[in-house]
Amino acid sequence: MHEDTQEITDLILEATALARKETSAEPEPDLTRAVRWPVECTVGPGLEGAIACESKVGYVNGTKGWLIYRGYDIFDLCAHSSYEETSYLLLKGKLPLPPQLSSLKHRFTEYRHLPDVKRLLMSFPVEKMNSMAALRLGTNLMRQKQTYRDQNASGPHLEDATSTDEDSIPMETQPRGERSAVYEFRGKRHQRPKGVERGLRGAEGLASCYHIIAGVSSIAGAVARLREGHLPIEPDPNLSHAGNLIYMMSGRKPTPVEERVMDIALILHADHGMNASTFAALVVASTLSDIYFSVGAGIAALNGPLHGGANEQVLYQLEEIGSPDNVDEWFDAARRQKRKIAGFGHRVYKAYDPRARILKPLAHYLARTNDRARHLLEIAEVLEKKVATSFGDERGIFPNVDYYSGIVYGALNIPPYMFTTVFAVSRTAGWTARLREYLRKNRIFRPRGVYTGTFDREYTPMEDR
Ligand code: CMC
Repeated sequence: MHEDTQEITDLILEATALARKETSAEPEPDLTRAVRWPVECTVGPGLEGAIACESKVGYVNGTKGWLIYRGYDIFDLCAHSSYEETSYLLLKGKLPLPPQLSSLKHRFTEYRHLPDVKRLLMSFPVEKMNSMAALRLGTNLMRQKQTYRDQNASGPHLEDATSTDEDSIPMETQPRGERSAVYEFRGKRHQRPKGVERGLRGAEGLASCYHIIAGVSSIAGAVARLREGHLPIEPDPNLSHAGNLIYMMSGRKPTPVEERVMDIALILHADHGMNASTFAALVVASTLSDIYFSVGAGIAALNGPLHGGANEQVLYQLEEIGSPDNVDEWFDAARRQKRKIAGFGHRVYKAYDPRARILKPLAHYLARTNDRARHLLEIAEVLEKKVATSFGDERGIFPNVDYYSGIVYGALNIPPYMFTTVFAVSRTAGWTARLREYLRKNRIFRPRGVYTGTFDREYTPMEDR
């Protein structure tokens, strides 16, 4: 690691020592042993307490505040690992040897290069789109590059398209006899290569996982650029995954400190148990849809303000409060209006979120040289104290991962509308690792709903209603 980043590692080691002092305990036996199906458990609303599957990918102990990937503590990974190594660990179950890591980096470099997908993306009004919607669109375009299943043998081929013709939209509502949308094409009509499979069989394979992990970072970079009215830029093969993400979003090579901070943020968002977006991705994968659709489902679920979308909300909340002096008044009004405080609370953690334990000192570190981050951090700390005294430890409402991440991303000059997108880029490693694992013993998800409606109603014709 670069010498400029040693202080950051020291901060994480300090946070590690404090966390270990405050959270030492045994794993929860009922959630760390193989289960015999059918399993008995108490299920609350929102499937609270339900066991969806077994996994060796990661473990969250919510009462103690632990987060473990494949047996390794998140604190150790943040102090010593990289996002590339962590992705390998999540997907393969063990730390890579040097040639394995360099082969993975080589694959990432190759797969980040998505000129056709970016060109297609540019034919959509990305500058007016929600960034997560654009990211999800990008995963669909990546998928389309991988399959011939959905294309007419004689029709136009999406992978040759440079842009769509605006007329293709009215054509949908006023058909003029054309068989499909009109695209502009480059060069010769595309020929389907011999031997290319028609479907996406094998799309849960390791290559597809690497393809989509690397690809979403390029798409996120392109989305950030297009939203600002700039052209997407090519990844730099000499930069890490974290460095490239900053570079492709901003067009500026990151400093070693920025690259390291982003790397840590990517590591600690990479996986998190059976959360809503992971479950959404698994549900889609369990139908034997494919990895691109599954990751798209994860992105859609992560976008919500109760889940990954909270990081952006936290920033707006701190801006709305405006000053540490306004915290009391703002908090009392929020409670009267029964508003949730963004960045606090968690379905699983009833202790301090270990990811917030890491992000908070990083926010402090960056705030030393960033006035705006310092101002937001002052408000955030007063609000944290207010929440702690108002709710008390016994309610288990502590800062979660999203509370300090926005201040960190802001100090890296990432615009708020990209915060959740950066979260999604990171979480793609966890989604793919878990769905690859699940598909080995796949069973389609199909819980039941309880019908509480009525029966025996007689149909009334429209004119008699
Ligand atoms: N502000 C105020 N009260 C809260 C908060 C909060 N942020 N979080 C929980 N509570 C209260 C809630 O009002 C309820 O009180 P009561 O029992 O009196 O009705 C109690 O705590 C339980 O809350 P819940 O909403 O039933 O808990 P849940 O497990 O269904 O929801 C949550 C978890 C994360 C959706 C919720 O805490 C929340 O909405 N937090 C704010 C949004 C947020 O920061 N989300 C990011 C989560 S971390 C990133 C990720 O993994 O997605």
